[in-house]
Amino acid sequence: MSTRPTEPANTSSPPPFPEGWYFLASRRAVEKARLIQKTWMGESIIIWCDHDGRICVAESHCPHLGADLGPEAGGRVRDGRLVCPFHGFEYDTGGQCVATPFSAPPRATRLRVFETTEVLGLIFAWWGTGGRAPQWDLLLGPLDQTGWSALSVQTLRFPGHPQETAENAVDLAHFRYVHGYHKVDRLEPVLVDGHYLQSRFDFASIRRIAGLAVSTLEFTATTHVHGLGCSFVEVREHTIPFDMRFWVLATPVDGRLIDVSLATQVGELRGLRRRVAGLGFLPLPLRAPVMNRILARMQKRDVLQDVTIWSRKKHRTRPRLARSDGEIMQFRAYCRQFYPDPTGDSHNDKGDHEAREKAREKAREAQRQ
Ligand code: FES
Ligand SMILES: [Fe+2]
Repeated sequence: MSTRPTEPANTSSPPPFPEGWYFLASRRAVEKARLIQKTWMGESIIIWCDHDGRICVAESHCPHLGADLGPEAGGRVRDGRLVCPFHGFEYDTGGQCVATPFSAPPRATRLRVFETTEVLGLIFAWWGTGGRAPQWDLLLGPLDQTGWSALSVQTLRFPGHPQETAENAVDLAHFRYVHGYHKVDRLEPVLVDGHYLQSRFDFASIRRIAGLAVSTLEFTATTHVHGLGCSFVEVREHTIPFDMRFWVLATPVDGRLIDVSLATQVGELRGLRRRVAGLGFLPLPLRAPVMNRILARMQKRDVLQDVTIWSRKKHRTRPRLARSDGEIMQFRAYCRQFYPDPTGDSHNDKGDHEAREKAREKAREAQRQ
């Protein structure tokens, strides 16, 4: 009979809602729909915008008698104010009740609102553990827009965790194995500065027809990770050449599913050194939008390859790494800051929290005896 001790499971997941800034919608989508309702962090929220362009992200139930404020329940925006379908209380974009149909608005009646910030028309909201205020600003710029295409945004929903999607930035081995890239080389050590992590690397992509290499694109990528909800990648292609920017924006829905939104834009394509899909025949202003459509499709295809892995994987708390894996553990150490202890002890992850809980339980047990 074997006496080999069994290993602990080594698969506990990080808490589902790490603290940080998370993408919710584009300004254009909010303006078009007027009132959006969605689920994030396991709760229902609404998003709307007033005449001055102020965006409000708030809980989606009325503080008066709890009606659902979403559009399907009859909630609507009138003169920039959100109007509750139950008794007509009106809220401004600060969340304050500013009017009711039958009496003066009760001063204490306010919606719980979330802090928002906007980057190039992408609206992000802050999720703080235990309701904590924003711990950092989401600074992605300045991002010059001269000659750049408009942003294209597409969203995928699948079972996953934002830490797993963000970990891609340092997992250089998977770029070769999953995406089939070549010459993947780190350019400089991963840089960590508080909530910010930077990963720079080169890679090449070979397009094949009938198994033959027909063209090689050579890229340099600089990935800026701003917490687990927002990875922003600046990419330079050297042979055509051109610049692109893309964002991988992961937002937890309910503790099981996440929405991953992919936003891309391409810089002005002037002085092409190579012929690409007839781009050279297009007038300059049309080249970047056409290229952006092509690259958005490629990016989606790449991310779908990841989704097959992400949606089925288990989180290994102690991964058995090989030398070629890159800075996975440095990334994991960086992630710990996004799971602050809700009891107020600073910067401990779930593992530490569980260990402390066990120690407390043991102490309580000892006291009972
Ligand atoms: S429940 Fe919203 S106004 Fe009464
Ligand atoms: Fe990937």
